[in-house]
Amino acid sequence: AFPQQVRIVEMAPRDGLQNEPGPVIATEIKVELINRLSATGLIHIEAASFVSPKWVPQMGDASAVMAGIQRKPGVTYSALAPNLKGLEGAIAAGVEEVAVFSAASEAFTQKNINCSIAESLERFAPLIEQARSEGIRVRGYVSTVLGCPYQGDIDPVQVARVSRDLIDMGCYEISLGDTIGTGTPLKAKRMLEAVTKVVPISQLAAHFHDTYGQALANLYAVLEEGIAVIDSSTAGLGGCPYARGASGNVATEDVLYLLQGLGIDTGVDLQAVVNTGHWITQQLGRHNGSKVAQAMGDC
Ligand code: HMG
Ligand code: MG
Repeated sequence: AFPQQVRIVEMAPRDGLQNEPGPVIATEIKVELINRLSATGLIHIEAASFVSPKWVPQMGDASAVMAGIQRKPGVTYSALAPNLKGLEGAIAAGVEEVAVFSAASEAFTQKNINCSIAESLERFAPLIEQARSEGIRVRGYVSTVLGCPYQGDIDPVQVARVSRDLIDMGCYEISLGDTIGTGTPLKAKRMLEAVTKVVPISQLAAHFHDTYGQALANLYAVLEEGIAVIDSSTAGLGGCPYARGASGNVATEDVLYLLQGLGIDTGVDLQAVVNTGHWITQQLGRHNGSKVAQAMGDC
């Protein structure tokens, strides 16, 4: 059955901007984007990433971004932390929630964080323990749940295994990433079926990239199964224009429109998100990737 309410986890400032080519985007623009997003009714914004700036130059100003934003009461501003060094940075910046990230594919994990899946989990164990001891919640990502750019098909049982491990280690929620957007609705349902055998649906989120234009269809499929947390990116920001197989998350505007049509409550003002999407794409000189935003225009 469909959920009555959905929590949107807004990805534009992190997943949306991390791969932006060209010069590093000014900190003030990132700060203003986050402040505008927090005024739309969104209650969870992934704001930054405490990863190696050599690996991801666009996120090198994570501390300055966290220091610059106006924190609105009731809004969670989370950040990625791949290791203890990242957690230290996040703690120093006053982050109240961090996210660790692994994958269902060995090859992807190696390319993304330079270690095996098992090593990633070993690395996360002390991180999660320390975070929790300081009252910081930890979210877990599992990437490549519906396909891997290096390995192809992924066994749903492997997705389930890594998800369960992260829950056992103390993550409060697992975000299931269709990193390269190759999934289709039946595949998404089957994957979710395997995962919900070991992790309750109330602890799962859908993080679907729209590379093949299937993200909304896949979301509809998992909403029907009761998924009530959706990661999305305003204006569909994200991906790398130079890298085949990498496109943004499904657009927040498009998800909100779908949910409105289903009578599912999010507490988010669609027009305000549309306006924010137009603003940021103008700042970046980027095409607005949301169909709904294109149709609704600016106001
Ligand atoms: P490594 O090179 O194996 O790490 O990278 P290392 O420990 O050997 O450190 C190398 C250098 O990085 C050292 O500096 C460290 O100090 C520094 P040097 O001595 O050479 O000057 N370093 C750091 N600096 C700042 N913050 C840190 C940090 N850690 C080390 N936290 C590492 C391993 C994990 C660090 C690296 O691979 C990395 O940063 N990877 C991040 C990759 C990334 O951000 N990917 C995108 C996010 S994941 C994603 O988008 C998927 C998702 O959206 C879900 C989906 O769509 O599927 C979540
Ligand atoms: Mg992603």
